[in-house]
Amino acid sequence: MKLKNTLLAGLLSCFSLVALAQPSADYNIIPLPQSVQLAQGEFLLKEGVRVTYPAGNELMKNNAEFLAEYVQEILGVKLQPVAGKAQKEAINLAVSTSIKNKEGFNLKVNAQGVTISGGSEAGVFYGIQCLRKSLPAEATGAVKLPFVTVTDTPRFEYRGMMLDCSRHFFPVEFVKRYIDILALHGENSLHWHLTDDQGWRFEVKRYPKLTEVGSWREQTVIGHNSGRYDGTRYGGYYTQEQCREIVEYAKKRYINVMPEIDMPGHMLGALSAYPELGCSGGPYEVWTRWGISDDVLCVGNPKTVEFIQGVLAELIEVFPSEMIHVGGDECPKVAWKKCPVCQAKAKELGLENTEHGTVEEKLQSYFIHEAEKFLNAHGRQMIGWDETLEGGLAPNASIMSWRGLEGGIEAAKQHHNVIMTPTSFCYFDYYQSADQKNEPIAIGGFLPVSRVYSFEPVPEELTAEEGKYIKGCQANLWTEYIPDGSQVEYMVLPRMAALCETQWMDKSAKDYTSFVKRIPRLFALYDKLGYTYAKHLLNVNGVLKGNTEEGCLELDLATADQAPILYSLDGTEPSKKYEGTLKIKQDAHIRALAVRGTAKSAEWTQHVKVSKSSFKPVTLKDNPAPNYTYGGAPQLVDCIHGTNSYSMGAWLGFNGDDCVATIDLGEAQEISTCNVRTLTETRSWCFDTNGLKVEVSDDGQNFRKVAEEFYPLPKDEEREIRNHTVSFDKVKARYVRVTVGTVKSIPQFHSGHGKPAYLFLDEIELN
Ligand code: ACM
Ligand code: ZN
Repeated sequence: MKLKNTLLAGLLSCFSLVALAQPSADYNIIPLPQSVQLAQGEFLLKEGVRVTYPAGNELMKNNAEFLAEYVQEILGVKLQPVAGKAQKEAINLAVSTSIKNKEGFNLKVNAQGVTISGGSEAGVFYGIQCLRKSLPAEATGAVKLPFVTVTDTPRFEYRGMMLDCSRHFFPVEFVKRYIDILALHGENSLHWHLTDDQGWRFEVKRYPKLTEVGSWREQTVIGHNSGRYDGTRYGGYYTQEQCREIVEYAKKRYINVMPEIDMPGHMLGALSAYPELGCSGGPYEVWTRWGISDDVLCVGNPKTVEFIQGVLAELIEVFPSEMIHVGGDECPKVAWKKCPVCQAKAKELGLENTEHGTVEEKLQSYFIHEAEKFLNAHGRQMIGWDETLEGGLAPNASIMSWRGLEGGIEAAKQHHNVIMTPTSFCYFDYYQSADQKNEPIAIGGFLPVSRVYSFEPVPEELTAEEGKYIKGCQANLWTEYIPDGSQVEYMVLPRMAALCETQWMDKSAKDYTSFVKRIPRLFALYDKLGYTYAKHLLNVNGVLKGNTEEGCLELDLATADQAPILYSLDGTEPSKKYEGTLKIKQDAHIRALAVRGTAKSAEWTQHVKVSKSSFKPVTLKDNPAPNYTYGGAPQLVDCIHGTNSYSMGAWLGFNGDDCVATIDLGEAQEISTCNVRTLTETRSWCFDTNGLKVEVSDDGQNFRKVAEEFYPLPKDEEREIRNHTVSFDKVKARYVRVTVGTVKSIPQFHSGHGKPAYLFLDEIELN
């Protein structure tokens, strides 16, 4: 008996050790739920736990199977879906009429077990996603679910992502994977861009050449319209059968697939197959380069309207989506201006140039209305890019505002529904790091996670009533520079995570610091699911700040998840443990990285070159331009070099006035060179300096010139970071006045000719 007791005690302590080692779920997921109320106690999620769902409810059966699949995938633990009543010590799925929002959910873990209830089956699905993301993704085997009540409801009813499958074609399997990614982030709309100049991807049985001819391009330009081509035929399309399969796959995950046929521009795919639909009659070819083509549909030709109706007729048979996207963006009107057929149509319709639009804008409007009439007659609603506002918007149409928020504001004021997707926050084809040379080639721009996170889709200009027309937001993924699925994932993850907090959370609840702290757990899940994602948020974030009082550069290093940081200041392998602000007074080659277990993050590096002017007091005769003042004059001697983007804070911008900076070296010092660093980007009106003058003084009042140089104006576009150094005979002085000249009148070749240019300057170095 005694022995038995001892054995039992031993076994028990063994078990409790195992229990202690079991990792716990953490409900602080992305998107952060509205309410997470923890309580004492926990439920052990282990092999064999049942998942009950109401018998006869097919959607709930799917939900139960999803949950089982997710748990198996993450933990390797098998759950058991069973139809029937709720049970103790099980996970019970239920639709609850007390949850008013159909997509809202409650997740309760208590002594009775686990209950996931939703305002509808969709709500239950989001509750399941919540539980899925709460699991510790690094773990395998049983995990503890702390007792809790989690409640959440999405802020917006439309939560989307667009995928462009024209510029690059993604196989059905990848489109499904993309849908899975959307589901993980609580999205409910896939906007599927199916046609464009570079390829038609939707099978239309009554127009077979659309896919036979229009889905193939002969080759593809290399890089940014370099003029060089890869010589490889490229194409593909989705059969109607495959589209139906994708619609079903998405629907099971509570995602609506909204197809887009982009018209009347972006139509070379169709024109190459049916040239008679263009103003010139062709021939046309599926475009092998990027950009906006002047060749568009001939809107005056009745056959074109018939064509669009034929395409839409088959589209709506395949896609049950209530909203159908008809594009309408970026349609040049040059062909219509010259086309007798289009002009005759304008005449017949009595179109005139007025303050409400040009004849051609009204032709576009007429054409879009034709598409809308057809859709409405078949029980569907039209949505278009914000250009469809021009020339008048059809009564029931919705707007997707991409060129900014303005189109959306105007449409909401006119009481049209709006989806916000402005380039400035929602174009995931933009670069996500300022360090472009270490990124895969992208279209341009700069859209880091932090900026995506800061997006607010309901503009302050709208009244509360008008604001209700903003139905939601989405991000767009144009794929000119995105050749495969892995790169799609890299571009959307984790920016989609940032977007989903805007889609789900109240504006006042969003907090970027909190988001960044929650990201590593989502990354662990991305790893488990095999997703490719951008890891910039895991890297060391280095912040340099000049300190003129102490005559040094302060360096703060941080990671989102407080991971340990190693660094070096002399260019050697980082090995010193970072423990707080570093003060740098000498030349340095800083390298820093984060360490997580045996894994090391990418490095943060910076070169610091200290000169005699570094960290010395400096005054400016005239302030920099208001938008480019940042920390002001001290930045010119802070040893911090800007990157190739002028708007990142390191470059001071001068416009109209020269930069006249007086530096106090503290005591008379010997100098013989002056170097200034400038950034030129003429297409953005940023011109290099036209001259550099150095004057010295002992009293700060009376200066004498020791050097002056002039630089010629450019004759063509330039984009470059340059150093300008003037040398002079050694001179000893305490005060040095450096004048960096700005271009007062932009030269003739440039659209801004005659106007003053900007000068961007980040450093003045005296030695
Ligand atoms: C667009 O980006 N052209 C809608
Ligand atoms: Zn025409």
